[in-house]
Amino acid sequence: MKVAVLGAAGGIGQPLSMILKNQLPAGSELSLFDVAPFTPGVAKDLSHIPTDVKVEGFTGDDLQKALAGADVVVIPAGVARKPGMTRDDLFKVNASIVANLVKNCAKACPKACICIITNPVNSTVPLAAEVLKAEGVYDKHRLFGVTVLDVLRSETMIAQEMGVSNERVVVPVIGGHSGTTILPLISQVIGSEVICQDKIPQLTADIQNAGTAVVEAKAGAGSATLSMAAAGARFALKVLRGLMGEPGVVEYGYTEGGSKYNTFFAQGLVFGKNGWERTLDIGTLSAYEQQCLDALVPELDGNIKKGVDFAKTWIEENK
Ligand SMILES: NC(=O)c1ccc[n+]([C@@H]2O[C@H](COP(=O)([O-])OP(=O)(O)OC[C@H]3O[C@@H](n4cnc5c(N)ncnc54)[C@H](O)[C@@H]3O)[C@@H](O)[C@H]2O)c1
Repeated sequence: MKVAVLGAAGGIGQPLSMILKNQLPAGSELSLFDVAPFTPGVAKDLSHIPTDVKVEGFTGDDLQKALAGADVVVIPAGVARKPGMTRDDLFKVNASIVANLVKNCAKACPKACICIITNPVNSTVPLAAEVLKAEGVYDKHRLFGVTVLDVLRSETMIAQEMGVSNERVVVPVIGGHSGTTILPLISQVIGSEVICQDKIPQLTADIQNAGTAVVEAKAGAGSATLSMAAAGARFALKVLRGLMGEPGVVEYGYTEGGSKYNTFFAQGLVFGKNGWERTLDIGTLSAYEQQCLDALVPELDGNIKKGVDFAKTWIEENK
């Protein structure tokens, strides 16, 4: 299996690549690409970790080389938030970066599973779908927005609230990946009855604002990188396990998954040899969660439309 990381020299890219170097199955290849000229140096550095994973670094005009034959492509390339910015504020810069990288994937590795971390995920994923469609290679089962950091944050915060180990807490997080479009289904967490109902809206808001809390705490030095690297690796490794034929591998991710709420929607995905094979039903929601879901649908729709509209113009301009 070959995994390519695009944006590999960045705040997320470097620790993500390190986790993959340590955790990819023996015999895998790890291919790092970034516009930062020191990317081959990042690869050289990682190559000294003694695991049976071959790592190569590329920059400049070598994007196609970096992508050739990739089974999974993880994209954290782009700019990150500074205090006072929303994820949507990143759209102008990051949209073109994602469009260009995905177009290159269409040419170099048309069957790869593409996992997009670059924000705003709610828009960059529908945008990527349009670019892949224009290249004639779109397969909805192989394109993902990485929203699993919301799951990590939910697991941590809810476990803390319940006073139990993180490992005992499984939290479905549906919707999208920004502000109120992030919806943790706390009512479905086993044992969550111990949490006082009055606390649920605040706990939900804390999970939704966790990314902004990191941006503010880093005070201008960027957004979540280390936890995101852990989340990105968890997601990519699960996609890979599915591709390798392991049955029953599940994770939450943002895809065109046939949701009745939005065309693109974060939901439970069961992975297989061809990407996600089926989605999990969102189950029964509490009245509060249903109210949040009803409110997020139009916002997420707007985010999706923004990505699609941008892609249409970008495709025309970059024929
Ligand atoms: N999905 C999530 O949950 C989540 C969480 C945190 C951050 N993010 C997003 O991830 C992205 C990256 O964040 P970061 O903290 O690593 O930023 P960063 O600025 O530290 O790193 C980004 C890297 O992308 C590279 N890059 C820029 N343009 C490129 C291109 N055209 N091709 C290849 N590489 C390119 C840069 O050189 C840099 O090394 C941001 O958009 C951020 O908002 C997503």
